[in-house]
Amino acid sequence: MRRKLYIGIMLGAILFLMIAFHSIQKTSIILFTLTPSMIQVKNQTLPVLESRQVQLCSCKSCIADKGASEWFAQHFDHQQQPYFTGREKDIDPESLKWWLSLQASSGTLKEVSEKMFKVISSPPMVETPKQNQCRKCAVVGNSGNLLGSKYGALIDSHSTVIRMNKAVIRGYEQDVGNQTTHHFMYPESAIDLSSGVRLVLLPFKLLDMEWLSSALSTGEIKLTYTRVKRLVQADKYKVIVVNPAFFKYVHDKWTEHHGRYPSTGIIALIFALHICDEVSVFGYGADKYGNWHHYWENNRNAGAFRKTGVHDADYETEVIKKLYADGKIKLFR
Ligand code: C5P
Repeated sequence: MRRKLYIGIMLGAILFLMIAFHSIQKTSIILFTLTPSMIQVKNQTLPVLESRQVQLCSCKSCIADKGASEWFAQHFDHQQQPYFTGREKDIDPESLKWWLSLQASSGTLKEVSEKMFKVISSPPMVETPKQNQCRKCAVVGNSGNLLGSKYGALIDSHSTVIRMNKAVIRGYEQDVGNQTTHHFMYPESAIDLSSGVRLVLLPFKLLDMEWLSSALSTGEIKLTYTRVKRLVQADKYKVIVVNPAFFKYVHDKWTEHHGRYPSTGIIALIFALHICDEVSVFGYGADKYGNWHHYWENNRNAGAFRKTGVHDADYETEVIKKLYADGKIKLFR
């Protein structure tokens, strides 16, 4: 009788263990299909899940996905804020000091930005990746290598199309497309924008922010280190000003102090890495003499004036190639 009871208890225990083991397996299957934030919570108790790669958006691969490239993980800092909001926390004192030294200006950032945000609206929140969304962006540089490329339709198929400086569209639609969502500029490279296009100011100096306020209102500033456009046609409620701290981040982490400061093109590209899930790059690449030639110009006599000056074109090209090699961007030449 005792023996039977003993066997019964043993069988019961085995049955209990089998059910428990089965439900643990089931639980782990469920855990592996949870959303990243849920996994994060679970990770605290189940470190084994840390190695699991989580797709953060619905594209084939997402910029913000971890684990794909160690080099990328060392350079990309998801905490950097690409948009300047005018708040003190946007920029640390060291970055501010460096940025103020790029090109001379008078005044303080506080005064100038307060005035600027009386003219323009505050920027939108920077969206974070979502699992049910794929933000596809095209970044279009101004290289002469776009001429004859027939990339127009492909560029226009992206939901975000970033162009820059004096980029010309009319007459070049087949090669460069005709859609633009964001246009990067600074006073000396300003053009009028079509309605709906976001003006993205790249402020290389304090005066650039003063110019923005002026160019979208009274037009009193007509001179920086050269004559500049007094008024710019653009929607002042859709302007974004790139955070000066973002310049420092690109200089420190991406171009790694090559060149005195990074170019419009590389800042626009790194900016795209922070607001997009997938980035396609068009129109980057100097000519065989190392000139940044433009697709809309006759480049035959381009000459040394077009040399890349304060920027290190070769190093920036290396960064772009590395991003491509690591599968973080698509590169169209
Ligand atoms: O000449 P611009 O500054 O307007 O060009 C915008 C950006 O496009 C540059 O900062 C550079 O990154 C890229 N570019 C390039 N090769 C060229 C022309 C421009 O990579 N031939």
